[in-house]
Amino acid sequence: MKSILRKKFPGRIFLVVILIGASLVFYWQINSTKFSATPYQLPDLKFFPRKVNQIEVNRLTVEGIRLGRFLFYDGRLSGSLHPDSLRSCASCHIQQKSFTGEGFQMEKNATELSSDYQSIKTGSHEVLPLINLIYNRNGFFWNGLINDKNTNKGPSKGLRYQSLEDVVWISIESKDCMGGSIDQTVDLISSIELYQPMFKKDFGTEKVSIERIDKAIAQFLRSIIAFRFKLYGVLNGEKKFEPDELRGYELFHSEKAGCFHCHAGSLLMTTNEYYNNGLMMDSLDSRDRFLFTNYLKDKGAYRAPSLINCEITGPYMHDGRYKSLDEVLDFYSEGIQYTDFTDPLIKGAIEGGIKLTRTEKNDLKAFLLTLTDRSILADTSFSAPIELGIYSIRHSSL
Ligand code: HEC
Ligand code: HEC
Repeated sequence: MKSILRKKFPGRIFLVVILIGASLVFYWQINSTKFSATPYQLPDLKFFPRKVNQIEVNRLTVEGIRLGRFLFYDGRLSGSLHPDSLRSCASCHIQQKSFTGEGFQMEKNATELSSDYQSIKTGSHEVLPLINLIYNRNGFFWNGLINDKNTNKGPSKGLRYQSLEDVVWISIESKDCMGGSIDQTVDLISSIELYQPMFKKDFGTEKVSIERIDKAIAQFLRSIIAFRFKLYGVLNGEKKFEPDELRGYELFHSEKAGCFHCHAGSLLMTTNEYYNNGLMMDSLDSRDRFLFTNYLKDKGAYRAPSLINCEITGPYMHDGRYKSLDEVLDFYSEGIQYTDFTDPLIKGAIEGGIKLTRTEKNDLKAFLLTLTDRSILADTSFSAPIELGIYSIRHSSL
């Protein structure tokens, strides 16, 4: 047996095989290190949810986030070079407004793609801010249309409406959002020299595809984290509340007001669950949570918004019906409309609200203002890149 083996595989052949193998491994390593992008370190924040919304096939990298920032602000994402057609995510999501709009409401909105969905639309939805999305694992958009628990039932039938990545192509394609065509966008972005080395650095080759655009912008969105607000400092022992802020904090977390049930749970200032919070329903919008679940309790229900930066994200509620925080507090105090669908966590609903005194309203407002992180509004890592020149969409007038 031994001698047969020796005859068939003499030592020299073994050596050649080993050498070829080793050089293949070497070649593969050199090539893979060439385009292995730099992992991005997320901040380790106390009091924020431990589990994040990040998918295995799209880990955050320094290069990916940079590419995503460029694409987010590039008016050519609309697929057209014509000055009147330049449109980007930043046309509606403005950094100085915590990445929400200027009170801009779309007639229709980004969520209307399938024809089923179009036939039932009414009203308009407010632009949502794009901060701390990485901590939301319970669906995006006011009604949770984009959800990794989505089945192929309901309005999103058969379409891929699952991740933050999907929001990108949906926004590009939707008539009421950017009104573009994915093919045109991919062609135009592929033809721009600036991007070729950037795609190569992040993905290994210069190839531009919609999947890569989706991934890069989603990475950029996941990197926008707002935590430098006063309440964070207070909980960390670095700052102190004023007396009115402290009274507001206590009221917010009391059973009398009950706000904490839906807008706390972590420093995200939302549970990211869906509730009917007792808004007047005469203008009942059919694109509520019920559309997906068919549970009666979800009629008129929307995702509770995070209250971080609520000082600057108005107008408020899914339809922007309240212009100021004072109006929102008047609503919780005496404007609740009690129906069969009102969430039981809304206190005093049967009496029309929690009946706050003037001082209590002021205290609650003082507390809400401790949730403002102004650093995010000017942070250059989230701003329009100078390199985009005339193609950059930015709102310097603000
Ligand atoms: C024409 C204005 C407009 C443009 C352009 C636009 N959006 Fe939006 N965006 C909206 C509106 C309105 C909503 C809320 C829709 C809803 O919930 O019904 C929204 C919601 C979102 C959300 C969900 C946030 C959350 O907390 O659930 C994300 C993410 C988002 N947009 C990302 C983008 C990206 C990325 C782009 C560019 C590819 C973009 N948007 C372009 C108006 C716009
Ligand atoms: C049962 C859950 C629940 C409770 C309790 C609750 N909210 Fe809300 N809140 C919501 C939901 C849901 C919305 C969005 C409703 C919509 O758009 O239709 C909302 C919206 C808001 C908004 C507007 C945010 C924005 O960006 O549009 C503010 C501010 C707010 N709530 C503050 C409070 C305060 C203060 C309290 C306590 C007095 C409170 N909420 C109690 C669920 C709740």
